Amino acid sequence: VTAEKAGFDHFMLKEIHEQPKAYRDTMRGRVSDDGLSVTLGEIGMSDEQIKGIRKVQIVACGTAYHAGLVGKTIIERLARIPVETDVASEYRYRSPIITPDTLVIVVSQSGETADTLAALREAQRNGARVLAITNVVGSSVAREADHVLITWAGPEIAVASTKAYTSQLIAFYLFGIYLAQTLGTVEQAAVTELLAAMNQLPEQVESVLEQSAVLKQVAESIAKHKNLFFIGRGVDYAVAQEGSLKLKEISYIHSEAYAAGELKHGTLALIEDGIPVIALVTQEELYEKTLSNIKEVKARGAHVLGIANAGSEVEVGKSVDELFAIPKTLPLLSPAISVIPLQLISYYASLAVGNDVDKPRNLAKSVTVE
Ligand code: AGP
Repeated sequence: VTAEKAGFDHFMLKEIHEQPKAYRDTMRGRVSDDGLSVTLGEIGMSDEQIKGIRKVQIVACGTAYHAGLVGKTIIERLARIPVETDVASEYRYRSPIITPDTLVIVVSQSGETADTLAALREAQRNGARVLAITNVVGSSVAREADHVLITWAGPEIAVASTKAYTSQLIAFYLFGIYLAQTLGTVEQAAVTELLAAMNQLPEQVESVLEQSAVLKQVAESIAKHKNLFFIGRGVDYAVAQEGSLKLKEISYIHSEAYAAGELKHGTLALIEDGIPVIALVTQEELYEKTLSNIKEVKARGAHVLGIANAGSEVEVGKSVDELFAIPKTLPLLSPAISVIPLQLISYYASLAVGNDVDKPRNLAKSVTVE
């Protein structure tokens, strides 16, 4: 068993550390040698089909859904196609408007999640084409979808998804760029810059992993609390939701993820002395706004851990109690780095409260019932 875990105490920790490799594997063979374009002929989507897409719906559950939230921003920003996101258990019952010019993207690590599979079938019944982003070749979702983009994360054993999530993000970046290049919605310079920055991600993730000891300390102090908040704006809010789910499922500590600007519409009433707030502050154009939300919680006694770009220590540092700096990348790519400290905080918080990290109570790795 220790051998299977490659010397790590848990599968989750091993899988967290496998992320730099997963990023490289998911990108391998999908970027042209000159670094100028994404090549995804493997998914079998013709240029005509791409040009005919009027709307995208991203449907998934749990962590895969959270990857979809980032996917929405990626596709809308790069390809300028409107994107809706739904959790799969809600999708079919809201009578969604599915047309033949809708591309439905289902995201599933296992490819066996019952609600996601049912959503895929519903989409096809209504004449939409379905792209599956999945980690398992030959899974039900992969077999039934019209187009398949495999995330080469390798087997994920821990119930808490880590490397599957981040490789889904990489798949969305690749697909978003591919759409944008086909549609002509981005300048070549922007693509070249994105692809170059994506190449840096594995090393940048590595450098976060090297700072695990600091995050362990953070986690141990968080583990003493019953409630906490994750806040952020834009893609930081999407990552906040993933951080909150991860912490809940393995530490059983209650947390909520909030869009930073939405707090004052009710939830701010819950902020009391000493409550931990983890604030993601990676989007430069939103700094000022998020920092003012941080002031609102600090004024009510919250203890704020900021997760911010290296280089922003002065700007962000003065507004928070503690700061964890992550390597700077392009704003759109930051989720691929900012989620790593949150995964490690969850892992160490789970250990601190003495839980079974890899097999949390009440949960299954793959949910094959609706
Ligand atoms: C993630 O940590 C969860 N265990 C869970 O939310 C999971 O992502 C969800 O059940 C979807 O699974 P899938 O990707 O295999 O479809």
